[in-house]
Amino acid sequence: MLNNNYILTTPRLGLRNWLPSDETPFIEMCQDREVMRYFPSLLSAEESLALIERLKAHHKKHGFTYFAVDVLETGEFIGFCGLAVQAWQSEFTPGVDMGWRLKKSAWGKGYATEAAKTCLHAAEHTFDLQEVLAFTPDLNLSSQHVMKKIGLEFAGTFQHPKIANDNRFKTCVAYKKTFFKTEG
Ligand SMILES: CC(C)(COP(=O)(O)OP(=O)(O)OC[C@H]1O[C@@H](n2cnc3c(N)ncnc32)[C@H](O)[C@@H]1OP(=O)(O)O)[C@@H](O)C(=O)NCCC(=O)NCCS
Repeated sequence: MLNNNYILTTPRLGLRNWLPSDETPFIEMCQDREVMRYFPSLLSAEESLALIERLKAHHKKHGFTYFAVDVLETGEFIGFCGLAVQAWQSEFTPGVDMGWRLKKSAWGKGYATEAAKTCLHAAEHTFDLQEVLAFTPDLNLSSQHVMKKIGLEFAGTFQHPKIANDNRFKTCVAYKKTFFKTEG
């Protein structure tokens, strides 16, 4: 079910700005313990709605965000994948990172890799970024696998400043890709 809202498309997926119809499935996804197992806590409904509002505001400001992702064939919303400015301070930031979170029923089909590859291409060629980062707790191997599969390179480990000191997800890994631009 192809609609006109897609900003990026892949062979199987459409990436777009957020719609009111995403709210209920997004709240459910962010309350799924398996989906959220590498995050310090589940998100309440209010926190999920606030996150959607921040992602929409980010899109308005920058022209990209963590996009809502649909399966093209069915129109089903399955989560997000995209790019976002990270202003917090660390040895790898500020910068633009890639993020992804899909509902469990959509895992293991290559969707995250497919969406992320297209976002990486758009980061260079559409959004004209010079570098893209990606972060995840060192324990999150499936997310790191996606990072490697799309061609990001390991940049180092660090203690995430936004995660509490005693939290087991405090130690994170950074991956990155730098785009070399030739002068006009
Ligand atoms: C991370 C996530 C987006 C991956 O989505 P996905 O659509 O299943 O990913 P893909 O199918 O494109 O690829 C996943 C790859 O990781 C591999 N993988 C899965 N679990 C793994 C593990 N524990 N260790 C190593 N690799 C693993 C899969 O085998 C697959 O690789 P392959 O295609 O070479 O077989 C999904 O699991 C998710 O939403 N997780 C919860 C949210 C999250 O952790 N987001 C990242 C936060 S930084």
